[in-house]
Amino acid sequence: MSVAPVFTVKEVFDLLRDDLAAIETEFERGTVSRVSAITDIGSYLRAGGGKRIRPALLLLSAKLMGYTGDGAVRLGAVVEIVHTATLVHDDIIDEAEIRRGRPSANTSWGNSRCVLAGDWLYMQAFRIALQERKLKVLDVLIDLTQQMVEGELLQMEKLGKCVDLKEHFDLIFRKTACLFATSMRLGGILGGATDEEERSLEDYGRNLGMAFQIVDDVLDLTASEEVLGKPVASDLREGKVTMAVIHALERCTPEERKLVETVLRERAFQSVTHGQILDMLNRYGSIEAAHAAAAEYSDAARSAISGFADSEIKRALLWMPEFVVEREK
Ligand code: IPE
Ligand code: IPE
Ligand code: MG
Ligand code: MG
Repeated sequence: MSVAPVFTVKEVFDLLRDDLAAIETEFERGTVSRVSAITDIGSYLRAGGGKRIRPALLLLSAKLMGYTGDGAVRLGAVVEIVHTATLVHDDIIDEAEIRRGRPSANTSWGNSRCVLAGDWLYMQAFRIALQERKLKVLDVLIDLTQQMVEGELLQMEKLGKCVDLKEHFDLIFRKTACLFATSMRLGGILGGATDEEERSLEDYGRNLGMAFQIVDDVLDLTASEEVLGKPVASDLREGKVTMAVIHALERCTPEERKLVETVLRERAFQSVTHGQILDMLNRYGSIEAAHAAAAEYSDAARSAISGFADSEIKRALLWMPEFVVEREK
């Protein structure tokens, strides 16, 4: 029997619509506390939307393995709650004022409350995950959370420095790709994947996550705040060099390197403009180079799941990298 190919974001998310709606309900139920600050911050964050790409991956992975139980909705909520907690903490650390097109939670509630709300959310995610009664699920989630926290800490140590590509890739693995990999892996664990299948799913998630963060970093340099819903040109102002900038630094003149170093030192586009940096990136084809790297990771993601039998779900997973690389926000 031939299966209709999946072509649009709407078609893929339609495939998951009921489960994604159930995940929203689980998220909502999961972020209620007698302490109103938690409930308020929790519902503000949930209502802010977001692409829900991590729970979508977990659902697709579980479905690929033929899993039909309730666990996928629960663990889908878990990965989205973990993601939300990291964003709350990340915006405090980055002093970001906008997230998902609205004031970030730290702007409305202040840093202290948001640190605590983030902690509470992490613990709530673990409480929901505990319902699976599977130590492996907890093991994977603990490893993930520590990797992500370590990633933020390592990033802090490297602020203002021109890191090389290897260090940068290690950082974006921890920051982002690890959660993508974990989402895929958890779907596999639910569906009783063999070790080899689990590794393939994880591999897919890791490569897709790397592509995702490379594109996120390009968008930071090239997109507008209206479209992106968060501050743009912020990475350099925060002291972070990302793939495109590293690519240019490996090729540029000492004078051009000084431009980047100046922005990193001043933590602002003050003596050097955003336009000057973009000109330099364009001179060396660095935006294209970052896109090419993202495309390579996308290909690696696709080939990681080549061993699974053809199905509508597999086609959705094969399409996902396109969505990640071509997205505008
Ligand atoms: C933002 O992730 C954090 C990064 C890893 C870059 P998303 O872009 O998935 O954020 P939302 O959930 O859609 O807002
Ligand atoms: C990714 O880092 C965020 C996390 C994994 C928490 P960024 O600092 O680049 O994310 P954005 O750009 O603020 O979403
Ligand atoms: Mg940030
Ligand atoms: Mg970013």
